[in-house]
Amino acid sequence: MMKMFVDRLLLLSLMLVVLALLATSAATLWGEALGGSTLMLHMTAGGALVVGMPLVALWFLRRGVIRQAANAMLRCGYWLTILTATATIITVFLCMLPLPSTDQMNELMELHGYAGFAMVPAVALFSLAVVRSRRMKLTRSATPG
Ligand code: HEM
Repeated sequence: MMKMFVDRLLLLSLMLVVLALLATSAATLWGEALGGSTLMLHMTAGGALVVGMPLVALWFLRRGVIRQAANAMLRCGYWLTILTATATIITVFLCMLPLPSTDQMNELMELHGYAGFAMVPAVALFSLAVVRSRRMKLTRSATPG
């Protein structure tokens, strides 16, 4: 019961953070630049994702999502979420190192945008798969025989 509560809490928090990141960066889709308080909010939500994502990844790993051989949707959603989140975070991190040129930074930011937008369907797929697998388990345990 407690574990299911933590599942829900983590998924809800992940969805809210990703929605905040999407909402604060959506204007770039129609050519506007990120700036001012929108950028501040974007980076605050970004910080929350950097801290929260390892927790989500480790929690669901311990819950055995990747051992669900029969549940491809769950495993796929989990790995796509990890992959897109890692790419989203690493592209920002690389920009903070004194290594890339300005052009390379612009390219990294473009990649960051693609990885970030790809994270939205990945998190949606993962959340849907968790809810679906729980419903299947509940239906099974409620069925006699
Ligand atoms: C769902 C996740 C995310 C989405 C959809 C997203 C989207 C975007 C987009 C579209 C841009 C503009 C890129 C460009 O200028 O071409 C951007 C910039 C940026 N994002 Fe994200 N992002 C996400 C997560 C994050 C995270 C986790 C961080 C922090 C670790 C972060 C920090 C930044 C920063 C610092 C910028 C640069 C703003 C600037 O150009 O001055 N974002 N993001």
